[in-house]
Amino acid sequence: YNSLAINEKGNLTISNVDAVKLAKNYGTPLYVVDEVEIIRRCREIKQNHMDKYSGRAVYASKAFLNKEMCRIINREGLGLDVVSGGELYTAKSVDFPMDRVIFHGNNKSLSELEMAIDFGVGRIVIDNFFEIENLNKILNHKNKTIDIQIRVNPGIDGHTHDYIKTGQVDSKFGFTLYDGAALNAVKNVLESPFLNLKGIHAHIGSQLHQKDIYITEVKVLAEFIKNIKDEFNYEIDEINVGGGFGIFYTEDDSRKLINYFTDDINLTVIKEFSRLNLKRPVVIIEPGRWIVGEAGFTIYTIGAIKEIPNIRKYISIDGGMADNPRPPLYGAKYLALIANKITQLEEELVTISGKCCESGDILIKDIMLPKVESGDILVVLSTGAYNYSMASNYNRLPRPAVVLVNNGEHRLIVRRETYEDIIRNDV
Ligand code: LLP
Repeated sequence: YNSLAINEKGNLTISNVDAVKLAKNYGTPLYVVDEVEIIRRCREIKQNHMDKYSGRAVYASKAFLNKEMCRIINREGLGLDVVSGGELYTAKSVDFPMDRVIFHGNNKSLSELEMAIDFGVGRIVIDNFFEIENLNKILNHKNKTIDIQIRVNPGIDGHTHDYIKTGQVDSKFGFTLYDGAALNAVKNVLESPFLNLKGIHAHIGSQLHQKDIYITEVKVLAEFIKNIKDEFNYEIDEINVGGGFGIFYTEDDSRKLINYFTDDINLTVIKEFSRLNLKRPVVIIEPGRWIVGEAGFTIYTIGAIKEIPNIRKYISIDGGMADNPRPPLYGAKYLALIANKITQLEEELVTISGKCCESGDILIKDIMLPKVESGDILVVLSTGAYNYSMASNYNRLPRPAVVLVNNGEHRLIVRRETYEDIIRNDV
């Protein structure tokens, strides 16, 4: 991890800020996000995809979003992929340039679509026929037009957890190719005076580690775009291959540079489109996890410790599935460190359990850690994506604060919820 080091006290630091001090200052559980690492990753994408291939990149904001994250993404010149009125509203609240926003979703409500049109988002990605009808109605009423992409289901089965696969034929997302639904959608869109067809989109899944799957995807999309040209004599300007680029959580995953994916994606686009006699499209990628996942850490305080002789030692922390639902939901695995015992070499096998009233609330099953005591500080790694954004108030736990660290500096970017927040909307 670029963000991690050890200081003179022997404590773990995140972007040169002592993790134990962060726990003291802000309380735990605490999300900590390293701005340096986020910016470094945005620039890696900019160099290797945007500059090198004149591509575009939109950050999939579902991974981690708040006002400050919008500002960072804006400053770095990426676009923003939003999937709800809430994400869109957040972007608007800090004047994120709306022409760089693209709006996804398989069941956008009428009011969300209206909001997107009123704000003037750059693209709406149409997912289904119902949405074409709704857009036509709204745009007719407002006497406006909008640039769109069509989401197709490429019929590719990504090798990842079932819950985060999206590209296989049996999926709720996008127009299927094999039965002609996608081509029919193109026809409907081309017939509409309100919809400008700019691009074709597909997204195969998340936490993918094989680039061959993207190569297959590009080939499928190129064939489809060729069909569109043959059928309607219409040229597509852009292809959006989605996100899903895998990151490092444990030894099961290897850490990958973005060009591991983007070089092959772009080179395949260049090759396939020229082979099919199509004009070279702008290539759009939608990374979420890859930008923010490894830049985020969660700090907990260790509380109860219980040993069942010869069976298991449970180390309980002051958070759990409410701030990180990924282990019970996807069987996700994480690594962790004891921030105040980094230099202690002797280790033992333990299980980290959350504080929710549920046996499934196990954050890490079987991990080697230094011998801990109550009050020690546990730091879980790679929690930047889909942790804060998926956090809940289960058991009426207030959501943790988010702190941004940047090379020795630290500041609060999302306040910790209070008990007052918990009952705020109760009538
Ligand atoms: N584009 C589209 C259309 C997507 O549906 C997604 C993710 C992304 C981009 C970004 O994928 P990423 O680069 O972050 O892998 N909650 C799950 C992940 C769900 C992803 C849903 N869509 C998890 O915690 O693993």
